[in-house]
Amino acid sequence: MKKILIIFAHPARTRSKINSALRAAVEGLENVTINDLYANYPDFLIDIKREQSLCEEHDVIIFQHPFYWYSPPSIVKEWLDLVLEHGWAYGSKGKALEGKLFLQAISAGGDDSTYQKDGCNIFTIRELTSPYCAMANLCNMNWLPPFTVLGIHQGLSEEEVEFHAKEYRRMVTALRDDRLDIEKAKQGQYLNSDLDSIIRGT
Ligand SMILES: Cc1cc2nc3c(=O)[nH]c(=O)nc-3n(C[C@H](O)[C@H](O)[C@H](O)COP(=O)(O)O)c2cc1C
Repeated sequence: MKKILIIFAHPARTRSKINSALRAAVEGLENVTINDLYANYPDFLIDIKREQSLCEEHDVIIFQHPFYWYSPPSIVKEWLDLVLEHGWAYGSKGKALEGKLFLQAISAGGDDSTYQKDGCNIFTIRELTSPYCAMANLCNMNWLPPFTVLGIHQGLSEEEVEFHAKEYRRMVTALRDDRLDIEKAKQGQYLNSDLDSIIRGT
């Protein structure tokens, strides 16, 4: 079984619908740790050693967050700037993250049609998240496409929220149990474009 670390970043959790639902769907799963950055560091004083130890203890690292101005909420940037130290995360002696799987789980107000060259956001989610792909590459991590829930501004029904929460749980469980076809998953636009085609034994 792989150990999964979900680095959860939502600055207003009580007002969150989708991220709260996704989180609730995986909370308490065996070998899944949720590390809530805003709850742990309301003053942004990130405990670097604690965060590095958590990363070292897990095989899969997931950044779960809403899209705020085409990025994760600001505490994630602070986390990256502080935790991913030279000689630990990257550089000739920085091997702490080597071989770990990395992905983002993103919710966004705009739907898929807005995240196109000719849409109002003019770039795709994959293009906008490319710094995270570059980060994973520099740290010798194994990058996967993002799990996405898009089109929140159109209003998701309770059934849709439940569907995405179940899909998130399926994806996290498959990663944990080594049932996700990593190479095939890398070819998709989003990790959850077609989970049936990348999860074995479902
Ligand atoms: C400050 C702020 C910035 C946002 N920026 C974006 C954005 O760049 N693109 C987008 O599609 N949605 C954007 N949104 C919408 C959020 O992504 C959306 O409300 C969130 O994913 C819903 O998740 P939740 O129910 O967990 O809060 C923004 C919302 C806020 C509050």
